[in-house]
Amino acid sequence: MLFQDAALSYLHFAFAFILAGALAAEAFVLRLSVDGRVARLLLRIDLFYGISAVGVIVAGVARLFWGAKGASYYASQPFFWAKMATLALIGLISIAPTRAFIGWVRRAGQDAAFAVVEADARRMRRLVMIELHLLALVPLFAALMARGIGG
Ligand code: HEM
Repeated sequence: MLFQDAALSYLHFAFAFILAGALAAEAFVLRLSVDGRVARLLLRIDLFYGISAVGVIVAGVARLFWGAKGASYYASQPFFWAKMATLALIGLISIAPTRAFIGWVRRAGQDAAFAVVEADARRMRRLVMIELHLLALVPLFAALMARGIGG
């Protein structure tokens, strides 16, 4: 039981690190002028972001049900719900950048001289930065919920 809890904890952390790394990479790459090559790189990073998001959620849900404390512990923790709400918000915000990256790659495939208008890239960077700042709150909420603070 303790080993299982530790294994799920490891997976949860590992995916969360990849997620944060991918999001930070997007923020930096979006500072470049975006042509087809950069657009494809952004989409590739976004794929890592998406896969790690699924990983962190699956590991998190597994910890919820098969972790040491049991699901009923978390259901009564306000910071668990704050964490879920923040994650939902991040997920919603991330739809626009993902759609933009897909569109950019598609257009670059049709036009070799394709370049993203700077204002569009800046708008996506802003969204990614908002996601990153919200993501910084998630470990705080996790640490509080894990210790039953506020519950
Ligand atoms: C980006 C997403 C997430 C991040 C960055 C994250 C981060 C963390 C961190 C840092 C901890 C360790 C807290 C501590 O021991 O002090 C933790 C624990 C945990 N997380 Fe997440 N989490 C995420 C998503 C989720 C999701 C989606 C769920 C479930 C639906 C979840 C459920 C849990 C559970 C059950 C624990 C165990 C807390 C305990 O030890 O009692 N997490 N998370």
